[in-house]
Parts: sequence; structure tokens; C-alpha cells
Amino acid sequence: MSKLWGGRFTKKTDQLVEEYTASILFDKELAEEDVQGSLAHVTMLGKQGILPAEDVETIKGGLQRVLERIRKGELEFSVSDEDIHMNIEKALIDDIGPVGGKLHTGRSRNDQVATDMHLYLRKRVVEFVGLLQKLQEALIGQAKANLDTIVPGYTHLQRAQPILFAHHLMAYVSMFGRDLERLQDSYKRINVLPLGAGALAGTTFPIDRHFVAEQLGFDRVYENSLDAVSDRDFIVEFLANASLIMTHLSRLSEELILWSSTEFRFVELDDAFCTGSSIMPQKKNPDVPELVRGKTGRVYGNLVGLLTVLKSLPLAYNKDMQEDKEGMFDTVRTLQGALQLFAPMIATMKVNKEQMRKAVNQDFSNATDIADFLVGKGLPFRQAHEVIGKTVLYCIQQDKYLLDLTLDEFKQFSELFDDRIYAVLQPEAVVDARNVYGGTAKKQVSEAIGRAESALASA
Ligand code: ARG
Repeated sequence: MSKLWGGRFTKKTDQLVEEYTASILFDKELAEEDVQGSLAHVTMLGKQGILPAEDVETIKGGLQRVLERIRKGELEFSVSDEDIHMNIEKALIDDIGPVGGKLHTGRSRNDQVATDMHLYLRKRVVEFVGLLQKLQEALIGQAKANLDTIVPGYTHLQRAQPILFAHHLMAYVSMFGRDLERLQDSYKRINVLPLGAGALAGTTFPIDRHFVAEQLGFDRVYENSLDAVSDRDFIVEFLANASLIMTHLSRLSEELILWSSTEFRFVELDDAFCTGSSIMPQKKNPDVPELVRGKTGRVYGNLVGLLTVLKSLPLAYNKDMQEDKEGMFDTVRTLQGALQLFAPMIATMKVNKEQMRKAVNQDFSNATDIADFLVGKGLPFRQAHEVIGKTVLYCIQQDKYLLDLTLDEFKQFSELFDDRIYAVLQPEAVVDARNVYGGTAKKQVSEAIGRAESALASA
């Protein structure tokens, strides 16, 4: 079969070149968007009197049939037709005859492919916002169930101060909330129409770009035709947003993996989300968070890959830009997989409250509070810090915790201690003392949950 662009050629394309340059094996994923864009384009050609109404109707009918065949898996794509755009155009011409060749009037594959990508990512953004909300809901659900669960809070992975487990989970709700906002914000840059830019300079036909934009639900059209066909910022932005989501998922994954270890035993992931070992019968492995952590690498890779493709490209379109697709599709699939699994995995996770409590009772994470107690008695904080440091050292030497010390033992380190310190040192008191906006006190965390829930409800 001859090429749609075969006119100026005297030789057949080398078979290997055909395979090397074709994108149909992956851009077939854009079939729906390609037809959607073509339908709007041809409708506009009719409205502008560029094509007669009957041709427009014939083309539309043909496009619908081609799309139906694609949906049913009946259309065989061919590498010699290079990409989804030419495969569809070829199928259209096969279906309705030479009139199908009028579809490409006033258009280039350069503005066509950019339009397809905008349409594609627009859908994905909506989908990912929904998935992030589901994950937030699952985290909030666990937070509500753990408003009385106290767990060591860490810095440097060393026990620092006790916190509510709910507070820890709500930190992730905030992170995913920013991810969600970033995606929503990117929508205004994705929802811009490139079509009408032609190959790079616009077109000689009296097209109506704003009409096409309106038909396709785009808020704006690209201001500059060169920019319209050269811009892949919107994909970079999506890949960057996806990278941050994966960063957050990966941090949470790491914690889930640690927490489900025998050393921690803070949580147990549901059997449905774990796998076993082919040799060690006792094993229950947290494969899902491990894989999410691992797959974060490829999502970063796709971002850096596209940035690198673009960094020295002269305007306008260059074939290099075809390399924007596989990484984007891969990132979409990777993110879909991770987010779809994470929400139910969090929702079904068992929280081992007793084990967390045991950990809290066996640490010095209440040391700051007892220093603050001395400050309340008028001791400068730096001196109080020194006193408590010595007290902790004594405890370590005696194999005791602060709450095990008698008042006499305390008084060896400062006369300012009195028996009120035992109340101050209770984990509940330590947590509730952090009663600042955004802090871990139960009142604050409950309010934070309330705010997060109303943000979700109004989204
Ligand atoms: N498959 C191409 C791509 O994804 C479509 C645009 C081709 N344009 C061209 N001038 N060869 O980039």
C-alpha cells in the first residue's frame, strides 16, 4: 500500500526505517482522542464552508465506523502507516473512498498529535484527582479509628516525641492534598487547544480555532502556532506531578514496610495485599509497597527522559518529540496501579495499637516535656535540657525509663522537680500538650480531620 505522503518519493521506505520510525505500536492508545479531535475539526471545516456539508457527513460517519472497529479490536493497525493518525486516515479512506482524504484539510499531524495528547492527559488528570481522593478517604478513615492511638514520632528514625497515629496518617492526607491541587492547577495549562497551528505556521484555510476549542471543551487556544506544536511542557508538568505523587507513595510504602517488620509490628497489611515466599513458609511479604517504592524510579526516569528530549530541540516540531509518549503512558499505568491498590490496602490495614503503646512506654520521647516542665519553673531552657540529658543518661545506665524514677531520683538532678511530673510524663499528656494549630493534640487532630473531610466533600 502506498504512503499517504508518498508523492515526492521514488523509493520504498527501508523496512527497518519503517519499524524504527513508527509509533503505532504505542500511540494506538490515542485512538479515541484522535477521532474526537477529527470529528471537531471536520465539523468546523463544514461550518466554515471549507468542505461541503455532505462530505462532512460522510467523513463523520466513516470516522464513527472506524472508531467502532478500533473499539472492537477489529481494525488491524499497520506499521507502514506509521502512527495512529495515518492509520485512522487510511482506514477512513478505505471505508468512504477518496473523500476521506479531505479530512486533513487545514491540519497537520503536528497540531493533531498535540491535540490528542491534550485530550488524553485532560482525562487522566480527572481520573487521578479521583484516585487521590479515594486514597485520602482511606487515610482519613484510619485516622478516625486511631484518634487515641499513640505511637512514637521519629526524627532521624530515632524516637523523638510521641504523636497520635492519626496525626501521622493525616500528614499524608496533606501531602496527597497538595498533589491533588497541583494536578487541578495543571488542568488550566492542559486544557488549551493546539489544533489550527498547522505544521507550524498556521493554515491558509479560513478555519475557526475557537469553534473547535468550544466543541472539544478547551478553555483556550494556543496563542502562537509554533509554540502550539512544540510545547510538551504540559506533559513534563504531568510527569513531575506524577513523580511527586510517587515520592509520597514511596515514603508511605517505606513506612508500611518498616512498620510491618517483626522489629516494629505496628501494622499488619491484609493478606490480600501480601505475598508469600516460595521457600520460607513463615513469610508474608509487603510486595505492594515494595513495588510502589521500586516503581517510583521509572516514573522519575520518564520525567528526566522527556526533559532531556526537549532540552535542545529547535522550534518547531521534531521527530524527537514522538518520544514523549511511551514514558507518559508508562507513568499513567504505573500511577494507576499504585493508587488503585493503595486506598484499599490502607483501608484494610490492621493497626497494632498495643504494640505501638508498648513502644511509647519504652522510650524517652517524653524528655522534651519534662524539660519544658522545668522551664515552667523558671529554669532557662538550655539548662533544663542539660538537666534532662543527665537524667536520661542515668536512666540508660540504670536500665529504666523516666516514669520509673522515684521523685528522690529526679531530685538528684534538680530541686525543681515535684510529683506533678508523673502526670506531665504520661504519653496522653505529652500528646495533648501540643495543642497548637497543626499539632498532635487530639483536639487539633480531630479538627484537622474535620477540615480534610469538608475539603473532600466540597471538591
Ligand atoms: N507520530 C508523530 C508523533 O508522535 C506524529 C507527528 C508526526 N509529524 C511529523 N511531521 N512527522 O510525534
